[in-house]
Amino acid sequence: MGIFRKKKNATAGRLDPEKLPRHIAIIMDGNGRWAQKRGLPRTAGHAAGAETFRTIATYCRDIGIQYLSVYAFSTENWKRPADEVAAIMGLLERFLREALETMEKDRVKVRFFGDVSVLSDRMQELIAETAEISSHYDGVQVNMCVNYGGRDEILRAARSYARDYAADGRALDDKTFERYLYSAGVPDPDLIIRPSGEQRLSNFLLWQAAYAELYFTDVYWPDFTTQELDRAIIAFQHRKRRFGGV
Ligand code: FPP
Repeated sequence: MGIFRKKKNATAGRLDPEKLPRHIAIIMDGNGRWAQKRGLPRTAGHAAGAETFRTIATYCRDIGIQYLSVYAFSTENWKRPADEVAAIMGLLERFLREALETMEKDRVKVRFFGDVSVLSDRMQELIAETAEISSHYDGVQVNMCVNYGGRDEILRAARSYARDYAADGRALDDKTFERYLYSAGVPDPDLIIRPSGEQRLSNFLLWQAAYAELYFTDVYWPDFTTQELDRAIIAFQHRKRRFGGV
């Protein structure tokens, strides 16, 4: 076999409900191009992307995925036009308001990864309320990554650790460091999915992605369906995970 032979995503077969990834993470990419293709404003792409998120989160709960992390807004996305930033924040606020009404009944917990202190007071109140409700029951946990960047997360964790331990890093190990990450207490993602044809992590869960299986597909996020998710999970189930062993 030539070393440059492209390895295809093996997506044939059926989904095995006994071998589900515990944690799926998704880079919801391609909203802008989806809209552009239809002659719509980019904001329409984000609105469609938010609907896809609802469908996929519900499906994850139904099939028994325990954690779903989604990249909704990166530390770099502030560079986008103000109306686009406002539209994404508006969609997030709407999601939080809806979640408050239905999350307990739907058994969906919500947690935020990222520096939310820069969001509006209204958003921060909603985030605190959803966190409080989430602590009362079990269900699928959605980790909404907002104003999130992997490098930023690692730097913040390093600074907090240095503060706590007066910069003595000799005893620092993985487990201790992980307690300082936004994802403290959440198992690493088993499967990271990026739609829209791009094949990179773009600063998403850099620490946590160490042994994640990566899955790429050309469909734009608003066109991503539950069948697409099944294909990604089946591909994951075909992979041999060795975690550095043999
Ligand atoms: C990347 O696509 C997408 C984003 C930066 C925003 C994602 C946000 C949402 C789907 C809405 C959030 C709300 C909820 C409820 C989840 P892009 O705009 O970079 O697409 P492009 O690469 O085609 O331009």
